[in-house]
Amino acid sequence: MLRNMTSGRIGLSAAGRKLLSSLKVPREASELEAIGVSGEILGVLQAHGLIERQDNTRPPLDLYDAFNGWKSQRGMLVDHARTTAFQRAIEAVVRPGDRVIDVGTGSGVLAMLAARAGAAEVVGLEVTDMARWADRIARANGLDAVRIVQGDAGSYEAADPADVVMGEFIGMSFLEEWRHYAAFVQVRDRNLKPAGTVIPRAARLLLSAIDSRKLYYERGYGFWEAPAYGIDFSEVRESEIHSPQRYIVSADHSAIVCTREIATFDFRSGSERDYFFTSTVEFIYPAAGSFHGFIGHFELDLMPGLVLGTGPATRETHWHQSYFPMPAVQVPAGGRVLVRARTFLSPADDRMCLGLTLTGDGAGQVGDSQEAVFVLE
Ligand SMILES: C[S@@+](CC[C@H](N)C(=O)[O-])C[C@H]1O[C@@H](n2cnc3c(N)ncnc32)[C@H](O)[C@@H]1O
Repeated sequence: MLRNMTSGRIGLSAAGRKLLSSLKVPREASELEAIGVSGEILGVLQAHGLIERQDNTRPPLDLYDAFNGWKSQRGMLVDHARTTAFQRAIEAVVRPGDRVIDVGTGSGVLAMLAARAGAAEVVGLEVTDMARWADRIARANGLDAVRIVQGDAGSYEAADPADVVMGEFIGMSFLEEWRHYAAFVQVRDRNLKPAGTVIPRAARLLLSAIDSRKLYYERGYGFWEAPAYGIDFSEVRESEIHSPQRYIVSADHSAIVCTREIATFDFRSGSERDYFFTSTVEFIYPAAGSFHGFIGHFELDLMPGLVLGTGPATRETHWHQSYFPMPAVQVPAGGRVLVRARTFLSPADDRMCLGLTLTGDGAGQVGDSQEAVFVLE
């Protein structure tokens, strides 16, 4: 029987907390039955203006289509170097009884590993319909600590603060998933205990100047520079210079002349603003050779002492390396290639762009170029 509560102290019951936290991210009303919230209760809350129907439970952007299915999720799962590195970090960091939030849970793999590591509650936030699969798989594996919530993670507020906030928000050239990282930052800042931990902790973005006839011919401008089969393709070269393409490649370590860091990220305190930077770095050629552009790779600090690297000398991952071709330059021994790297969003569709400009000064620095703008997608 309902009693009016016009006096006395009131607060949320355990069921009320569960309801509130599950409504912080819009979700299907029918799914709430599973946590004991009937349609009748929702009707009363709606009649009093406390909840309303929302149409944004589905992924708002094409951007997420790439993740909505097993093709891409499987691609990440079969990357053992990646997934076992996250597993090691989760097993070292998550303690029995912890509350964990996995931002962008996809197949739910990291959330389930956290539950296996002893977490009392793991909330897996996922925008795409993979949420249903993740939930189904967690149930099938008897991992009752896992709760999957579908919606944009950025608006999630937990009923109780979390001990660990984690996420795998790393795009093929690292920076593409800047929106996902922005959601991670919001979840972290709103829900992580002051002494809580994040996975991953930090990262460094690296560029290597390369000397590789093979890459230059197969993916760079090399193929267009000499007639092939007696046909002159040089017009294609000019067109590609104006709209250069990034290629995902498995580069040979011997192609690297020199590697420099162009950005660092601290995921414990940083924000997506750190993804927008300008950095000028110099590459020195110890011996005479050719400059054929850059490869991009990164180092991810998953926990103290555990670094996942994606350079050509490390174990292969699904990220491989990103090749950014540039017109070839001959470099003498001791010659220097100075490059300005900057990141920005394309005005048309907010996709992350990397602009690379060689700035030779004629005094030992070689190369001088228009900015080559690579759209990372
Ligand atoms: C790189 S995948 C990682 C999937 C899984 N955590 C793993 O490690 O295999 C990123 C996932 O985050 C999801 N995602 C990206 N931005 C999101 C957001 N703002 N809210 C919820 N999910 C998001 C994507 O749909 C995708 O499934």
